[in-house]
This record gives sequence, C-alpha cells and structure tokens, in this order.
Amino acid sequence: MNSSQQIIELFNRHVVPNYTRYPVCLVRGEGSYVWDAEGNRYLDFFPGWGCDLLGHCPPHVVEAVREQVGRLIHVPNTWYTEAQGRLAEALGERTGWGGQCFFCNSGTEANEAAIKLARLYGGPGRYKIITTFNSFHGRTMGSLSATGQPKYHQGLEPLLPGFSYVPFGDLDAAARAVDKETCAILVEPIQGEGGINLPPAGYLEGLRDLADRGCPPGGQLLLLIFDEVQTGMGRTGRWYAHQHWDVRPDVVTLAKALAGGIACGGLIARPEVAKALRPGTHAATFGGNPIACAAALATIETIEADRLLERAVHLENRFRERLEAIKGRCPWIKEVRARGVMIGIQLAVDGTPFVNACLERRLLVNCTHGTVLRLLPALTLADAELDEGCDILENVLSQYKG
Ligand SMILES: Cc1ncc(COP(=O)(O)O)c(C=O)c1O
Repeated sequence: MNSSQQIIELFNRHVVPNYTRYPVCLVRGEGSYVWDAEGNRYLDFFPGWGCDLLGHCPPHVVEAVREQVGRLIHVPNTWYTEAQGRLAEALGERTGWGGQCFFCNSGTEANEAAIKLARLYGGPGRYKIITTFNSFHGRTMGSLSATGQPKYHQGLEPLLPGFSYVPFGDLDAAARAVDKETCAILVEPIQGEGGINLPPAGYLEGLRDLADRGCPPGGQLLLLIFDEVQTGMGRTGRWYAHQHWDVRPDVVTLAKALAGGIACGGLIARPEVAKALRPGTHAATFGGNPIACAAALATIETIEADRLLERAVHLENRFRERLEAIKGRCPWIKEVRARGVMIGIQLAVDGTPFVNACLERRLLVNCTHGTVLRLLPALTLADAELDEGCDILENVLSQYKG
C-alpha cells in the first residue's frame, strides 16, 4: 500500500487544489474510528462531515448496499423502482404531515430543487426567497446565492438574483423583507456551518405565520422551506430538527446522513406544493438510484432498531456535562451549544490551533466560522469513546496559553 506521503504527491500532481486537506490519507473506517495508510487510528468526532451519522461502514447499510449492487446498480427515473418508492414513503411518514419526495445526490442539489419548486409554485413574477446571514445552503450557483455569507460569493458574481438576507432569529427583519415578488423563506432550523446556532423561542413558528400571511396580507402564500441537510435524519434526536418546535414546513431538504454515508439528497414537499414540479421541470440522472435508496432505508431501519433518536438525547446530555465542566476551567470557552449530536463550542479565540492539536492526539474535530469548534459525532458513539474524545479536548483546551 502507498504511504500517506505518496498519495499526497499523487494529489498534488493530479487533483484540483480546491480543498484544504490534512496531511493524512485515510484507508479504513469502522464505527467512530478511522485508520490512515500508516495504520494510525483516529477517533472521529466529525465523521464524514456529518454524513456518517451511524459511524463508518454501519453493518446494516453495508449489507443492504452489497445486496443491492449485485442485483441492480442503476436505472434512470423513466422507470419505477421499489426502493425509491419505499424510501419516499418512509421519509414522508416520519414528517407527521405526509409529503412527497424528489431525490438527487447532495445537499446543494436538494436546495436547487427547492429553489426551483418555490419559483414554480409562486408563479410568474414571484421569484424572491428570504434566507439568513450565516446560513449555508451549498456551492452550486442557486444554493450559493441563497447562502448568506459574502465570503463564499467573492469572485463568483453575478449571483442568481432574488435572495434577501436577514439576520437569523430576527422575525421583524424577515417580515420587512417580504414583498409581492417573494415566494419563499428558506432557513436551516439550526444553523450548522454558521456555528451551531439554535433559533430563538418562537422564531420558526413566527416564520410559519409570516409565510401563511402571504403578500400582500391575505394574498398568495409563501413557502416555508427548512434546509435539514445537516440537522436531518435523527441527528438532533428527532427525525427532522424542526420537530423540536411547533411548526410545519412546506418543504424539507435533506442529504448528508440520509443514506448512512452513501451520496443521496432529496426534498420532501407537501403534496399540493410538490405538484409544481411537473414532468420536464426538474430531474437528476442518478437521483433516487437503487443503491442510495437501499442504503437510506437501511439507515432508517438502523436508527429505529437501535433506538438512536433516544441515544442522541443521551449523547447530548453527556457531551454537555463534559464540555460545561471544561468550560468552567477555560475562560476562552464562551458557550456550549448543542442539540443531539450537533455540538458547537464557541471560543473567544481562533479555533484552528485546537483542531490541529486534537489531530496530533488523533481526535478529528472541525472548526467553523473561525471560532466555533464543531462536533457532529455518530449516534453510535459509545460512552467510553465520548469520554476518550472529551479527555483529549479537555487536555487541548486547557493547555491554551493565550
Ligand atoms: C445546511 C446545509 N445545506 C446544504 C449543504 C450542502 O450540502 P452538499 O455539500 O452535500 O452539497 C450543507 C453542507 O454542509 C449544509 O450544511
């Protein structure tokens, strides 16, 4: 087998340098651990950038994919396949309000589909969508334009027109942004890349009211779209994070953890709304392919059989206990924010050196927005593994010299 260094040299010659990568080549994963080409083992508190919610190579998903791949790898959406129908049924049933699904391959594609759906549903002249600052919706031009972070727009203008950015949590600002050309509001129920920001009380419900009021008041309604690409599929202790609040969206977008690490994205829409995606308006060649759908069904079965929604609550409590104790000894930790296994440690200082120090001690974590250490661990993380990782975090955080 090639060494990490040899693989890095291969990349340097042949792979576009658009990612900042750690100088490690990973070759194997199991549960919450990954191994590099040199045989070193790492504890992964950020498995698959949020995609490996069941840990690396979850056995039931591996089995389902093996079985499916030997039977039918891919057929396009000109045909029916059972797995896609059953997955759509399973996702719709878990919303509590029904819903019909469209499938694609990633989060950004899911949001592109939602943007098109909103414009088609809104009808002629209604194309504007309200989104929030510090949101993240993806990297293709529509989702990127929806993303309320100028740093991601630089050099890529002109963007897709029609997005109005408002502060996350500010209902009045959202209300002021509505005009007669507005067709939708698009938000993450909990901002992920933006730093694990939970919505203030009443915010999501208030957005629902705003969408229902329409523009002009009593006129055409707006769609309320929740981007649950990062929060969805049980990460927060509910199938969909918005279920923590008394709010029912019109559209939910999903990806990341949807298929246990296999590429899969999609949206769920109220059937009256879903109708706007008529034949010819949208498509994805690989969308809803049999392998991704079999993997997603196995993911849902695992979450249910292993009671992982309950486990999310247990892990949140245990992480909170450990991290709050560390915070008590480290004044440079300002706040711990968590919902299920979506955890942010707000620092008063740059988080990058901490990520690097964790890597040296073979713990994988992420830093977002410069000062937030982000953990998206697997729901299958064992208590002993949680403690092992928190011991490393404690060690790294408490050694900070200022
Ligand atoms: C909330 C949210 N939406 C969309 C995306 C884009 O997903 P993808 O990278 O699969 O296109 C991300 C990715 O981090 C995300 O966190």
